[in-house]
Amino acid sequence: MKCIALVGYMCVGKTTVGKALAKELGAFFYDLDWYIEHRYRRKISEIFAEEGEEKFRDMERRMLHEVAEFEDVVLSCGGGTPTYADNMDYLNTVAETFYLKASPETILAHLSMAKGNRPLLAGKSPEELDAYVRTQLAAREAYYAKAQHVIDVNILDSFERINDVVQLIRKEL
Ligand code: S3P
Repeated sequence: MKCIALVGYMCVGKTTVGKALAKELGAFFYDLDWYIEHRYRRKISEIFAEEGEEKFRDMERRMLHEVAEFEDVVLSCGGGTPTYADNMDYLNTVAETFYLKASPETILAHLSMAKGNRPLLAGKSPEELDAYVRTQLAAREAYYAKAQHVIDVNILDSFERINDVVQLIRKEL
């Protein structure tokens, strides 16, 4: 089985869905952020703070090329991965790509519950966060929309719904 790559904005549930999907398919699960952190032995937030975003994107692209060509893997990409360099076109050639699509309202609701360490969102007031997410999501939509499949994940309002999303993906495989 070639790699199944999940793309979409921060907090849409790529990691949660990816893990459940991998389990269901008997595949390995990789989260690109975790892979970067292990390979470089540094936290994403440290890389952003010490090297800046551009350097992070180079590292991310290099790591993407390592994992996306593994067999039998479900890969959860970072929210920004598809929007840099040729990453989305590359993914479409080596992987089966799924855009987990959520509205800004769903994303903002998930963000308010998530304690994740996301340097792009850190230190923003609720109003700033609202504006940032809406603007950035709109700017990224064209990249995400290049995925071969689009899955509506607005239903992901509780853990019981994770399996529903997994089944929607399975139906398209
Ligand atoms: C980013 C998303 C993060 C991580 C980094 C940048 C982005 O991944 O790669 O903080 O640009 O959207 P998640 O989507 O897994 O949070």
